[in-house]
Amino acid sequence: MGDSIAVTAPLPGSALERLAARWPVRVREEPGPMGEEEMAAFIGTATAAVTLLSHPVTARVLEACPALRIVANYAVGHDNVDLEAARARGIWVTNTPAVLTEATADLAWALILGVTRRILEGDALVRRGGFHGWEPSLLLGMGLQDRTLGIVGFGRIGQAVARRAPAFGMEVLYASRTERSGAPGRRVELEELLASSHVVSLHCPLTPATHHLLDARRLALMRPGAVLVNTARGPVVDEAALVEALSSGRLGGAGLDVYEREPEVHPGLLGLSRVLLLPHVGSATVETRSAMADLVAANVEAVLEGREPPTPVVRGER
Ligand code: DGY
Repeated sequence: MGDSIAVTAPLPGSALERLAARWPVRVREEPGPMGEEEMAAFIGTATAAVTLLSHPVTARVLEACPALRIVANYAVGHDNVDLEAARARGIWVTNTPAVLTEATADLAWALILGVTRRILEGDALVRRGGFHGWEPSLLLGMGLQDRTLGIVGFGRIGQAVARRAPAFGMEVLYASRTERSGAPGRRVELEELLASSHVVSLHCPLTPATHHLLDARRLALMRPGAVLVNTARGPVVDEAALVEALSSGRLGGAGLDVYEREPEVHPGLLGLSRVLLLPHVGSATVETRSAMADLVAANVEAVLEGREPPTPVVRGER
């Protein structure tokens, strides 16, 4: 059988048309997450799968799809893909780094500003007719000038967030396995970062080592009144412990773009006014999502043509 491509969701831009001009392409039109069985049935005999972060590519899925040569994930994160199982089967795994860095860093700052300046509360007050004129003590937030921003994970996105910090007068601390020189910031241990930062922004990948990295104990190390921002992956934070830290008033607020059991949101977060909740839109600009689709297509094209793909995570052999 010849090559064919299974795409688990429609993608913005014209990349899929480009692929469809050369190979049979099947696109799953129904939105929403998929389980293992549905994934295996959908990919079937395809030689290339384009997958979303909400679609699990497990060992069972890979085993059930023996013709697969590449899993091209439409995300920089690849925690939905069993990399070891792909490696063992000689299947390429690719992701979409770099093209989404600036958009995601911008959104992290939107959350930082949105929470510290109480943007949602102000908007809600105006809409319900509660604005009766300027008041000295109305909706006072936290100023950022001369405060400390703690960045957990100092890869491309963490560094892009750091580069924006001097414009707001913030000092940057970062926690990372390695020393990095591409952005302003001083490397410290995670515990020191948590204890010193007025705003903590998460930018590490989700791995077994970072699952619940911010658990109840580490959340308790954060400064009283500090703000937590998460545009990385939900399970990096113990969401129940976060709800507790916010409800008790120990933390000053949170800006979340990702959730522990996405797309479910912990019900305890929904009633909290100092929490800004977004539906995983860190990379959601027209330009970025098209660039991600172009990169996915370039990865698929390369493997189906027998070349090395531009952004491999796992080197395949097929
Ligand atoms: C990613 O790429 O990992 C983001 O979460 C979605 O763009």
